[in-house]
Amino acid sequence: MKNSIIESSTHTRARLRMMYHWLSSTGHVKLLPRKTTGMSKNTVKASLGTEEIYDELIHLGSYNYSGLNGHPDIISEAEKALKVYGTSTSGVRLLNGTLDIHCLFEKKLASFLGTEDAVTFSSGLVANIAAITALCNEEDIIFSDELNHQSIVDGIKLSQAKMIKFMHSNMDQLESLLKKEPLYKRKFIVTDGVFSMDGDICNLDQIMLLAEKYNASVIVDDAHSIAAIGTRGRGTSSYFKLSKMPDVITGSLSKGLPGLGGYIAGSKELINLFRYGSNPYIFSASLPAPIVAGLLKAVEILEDSPIIMEKLQRNEQLLREGLKKIGLNTMSSNSPIIPILIGDRSLTFQFAELLHKEGIYVNPIIFPAVPLSKARLRINASSALSEEQIHFSLEKFEGIARTLNICKEG
Ligand SMILES: Cc1ncc(COP(=O)(O)O)c(C=O)c1O
Repeated sequence: MKNSIIESSTHTRARLRMMYHWLSSTGHVKLLPRKTTGMSKNTVKASLGTEEIYDELIHLGSYNYSGLNGHPDIISEAEKALKVYGTSTSGVRLLNGTLDIHCLFEKKLASFLGTEDAVTFSSGLVANIAAITALCNEEDIIFSDELNHQSIVDGIKLSQAKMIKFMHSNMDQLESLLKKEPLYKRKFIVTDGVFSMDGDICNLDQIMLLAEKYNASVIVDDAHSIAAIGTRGRGTSSYFKLSKMPDVITGSLSKGLPGLGGYIAGSKELINLFRYGSNPYIFSASLPAPIVAGLLKAVEILEDSPIIMEKLQRNEQLLREGLKKIGLNTMSSNSPIIPILIGDRSLTFQFAELLHKEGIYVNPIIFPAVPLSKARLRINASSALSEEQIHFSLEKFEGIARTLNICKEG
């Protein structure tokens, strides 16, 4: 009986096992679950394989876009909260799990983003699922960019709405698909703000116009946009200087913001609906206070320090221009996420391993996160990186790329 349970395979497990088999048989497996120790800032102590020698590497693989992870004021606020509230809320939001500090943070987050209200969840993944399942049902149509994050796809499946995928950022195709549906029908357009694998920013300005024209609502996932793009890191709407906000903004609190959790931001009416009409709010424990206290401080620091985003932009530019000059293909990325398209999986792992040995941590990205033939390295710019670290890294990239013969001469 037990064996048959294990042997029957879901589609997801089959895909992931296929990847694992390939990784083990090629010896590349040591690179993915590299062990790290210490704080994820501009360097990281990481061991390659099982021997546990932790080298200090320049960190080009962290979501710490703002560089705020480890900021002394954030740690101090988290420590204070730890002493007052402990490590857990021991409850769900609807019962005993709502702390005063959750309410303070949600108010602060909404005012930072320019929305009426906001609500937090245990992760960005859960926030997407909460938003889509609370809003959409089997009578609705959801137009979804083909490169949207898996949590959006899972949310759509759970909602039972009809999903119509449009080609990545292809506004002409989106319009022709919208045109085919009756105006009276409830329609949603959902998109990542910054696409996590390609590093390009969605055409939110055009999506908003199409939504207006065809009577659709817009959901944008700012997981990689908050504390990464826009004025002071306010995300995709701010990047486009939109005069009208999207109906729903979701996001993560563990990337540009140095915490854990997710959020939905929008009108008071909608946020109330997510509070009292979404399973993750009602049936899952709330975020621990030290995390929330740290996040509150992080938003205050971002508001007061324009230098953080200015430095991030400078570092992003230095990295992207440097990589392009070497002859590497950074695709159409225009955010702090910079892919280097390699194509071949083995070569991608080889590149990442050689970089590790030269003192640089980057992530190799392969199927199923990206199509089989589009394996790549993914670089994350951070405000915490120094110019010396960037120049040193670019030198190493150039040397290895030439050895592996993957630069376009130009
Ligand atoms: C676009 C996007 N949305 C949502 C998430 C999920 O965020 P979290 O890690 O907070 O669950 C991710 C995670 O990387 C992401 O890339």
